[in-house]
Amino acid sequence: MMDQTGLLKLLGFLLCGTRAQTEDIAPSIVHQPSDVVAKLGDPATLSCRVDGSPKPTIEWLRNGQPLGTEMGAGPGQPLVLSEGSLFFLRVGGGKRGQSHEGVYACVARNSAGVAISRNASLFIAVLKDEFRAEPSDVEAAEGEAAVLNCEPPLGHPEPNVLWKKDGIPINNTDPHYTKLSGKLIVEPAEKSHSGSYVCEARNIMGVRQSRPARLSVLAKPAFVLRPENVSVRTGESAHFHCQAKGDPPPAVAWSRDRSPLPNGRYLINPDQTLQLHYVTAQDAGQYTCTAANHVGVVRATATLQVQGQFNSLYELFFQCFVLDLMLLEILQHQTESISFYPNGCRQPVILLLVSLNCSTNQESARRMTFRSQ
Ligand SMILES: *[C@@H]1O[C@H](CO)[C@@H](O)[C@H](O)[C@H]1NC(C)=O
Ligand SMILES: *[C@@H]1O[C@H](CO)[C@@H](O)[C@H](O)[C@H]1NC(C)=O
Ligand SMILES: *[C@@H]1O[C@H](CO)[C@@H](O)[C@H](O)[C@H]1NC(C)=O
Ligand SMILES: *[C@@H]1O[C@H](CO)[C@@H](O)[C@H](O)[C@H]1NC(C)=O
Repeated sequence: MMDQTGLLKLLGFLLCGTRAQTEDIAPSIVHQPSDVVAKLGDPATLSCRVDGSPKPTIEWLRNGQPLGTEMGAGPGQPLVLSEGSLFFLRVGGGKRGQSHEGVYACVARNSAGVAISRNASLFIAVLKDEFRAEPSDVEAAEGEAAVLNCEPPLGHPEPNVLWKKDGIPINNTDPHYTKLSGKLIVEPAEKSHSGSYVCEARNIMGVRQSRPARLSVLAKPAFVLRPENVSVRTGESAHFHCQAKGDPPPAVAWSRDRSPLPNGRYLINPDQTLQLHYVTAQDAGQYTCTAANHVGVVRATATLQVQGQFNSLYELFFQCFVLDLMLLEILQHQTESISFYPNGCRQPVILLLVSLNCSTNQESARRMTFRSQ
């Protein structure tokens, strides 16, 4: 049983306790302000909610200074709303007028203490006109990678980059397209990727478009018909075929390893076939067909074998009736190798073989006798 005094004491204690508890709650920030990007002239709010008892008073700091003192009262001044947020009716950022850009924090204060929020920045949105880099026309070979460059104009917030092909946003799920820090990589490039590309930069301030760039996906040369090895006899004709496709159509050219094509005795047909006429032993060797366009080059080589081509002077044989012609050829080409067929010779044939030594420029003559078998 409690007497009356005891009851009063308890009541007093409870009341005092309750009052002491409410007085003791220091302010705490329950909703921190976050960074805000606003367009010039638009409204903006930096929020701040606090707890505490008694109800804390709210003050805002801008760049570490109390707001009221720094800015003074005026029509451009932000208002502190009753729940604590800072409200800008029209965000100002003009060069002559008051700029609202800055770092803001709210301070909550009551008899039990002080709390300060995190710093939140107020940015004025910007999007410059000039692209830092614009795409340029690109030619790429089919199956390879093409890169379209783009660095969007400076802006805040950082502008998003979108690519358009022939006026339509590119299909982001197409695995041929990769966006890499503004650049567009097309890999592997296909014929269907040819077109006009535009880089578009966008943030809340608006949209900027780059100049269009043309991507041309071309085909490297490829052989339709490759030259084949050919074997002919002296005096005959030899033909090497060669056909190549590509986009643009490749130019085809013929060449020989280590020496020019035989002057006056070759012809290249409109279908690119190489014809060699009155083949001599010196024509033996490798012939190369080269097909080139501005995205690639391919080469194919074939061998011309001339029957009766000899490795040394002593392997030399000849046909009786072509003796004069052979001599002429030996003199013309300063060589020891020539084709001869000894069949039908009844008499031993004597040949004066004249050759020129290229290092000494001296002529040497050999007298040789050949007999038929
Ligand atoms: C908040 O910003 C002010 C002014 O820029 C600076 O003095 C202060 O150190 C910053 N506080 C924090 C917690 O970063
Ligand atoms: C985008 O590309 C994917 C994969 O290539 C394809 O399945 C889809 O149909 C394309 N979407 C459009 C709208 O072209
Ligand atoms: C042509 O001859 C070369 C050697 O002279 C040989 O390596 C090549 O395989 C030959 N090509 C064909 C298609 O027979
Ligand atoms: C050419 O002359 C040089 C110098 O006299 C000699 O060493 C070389 O063997 C000669 N070559 C031939 C193919 O006769």
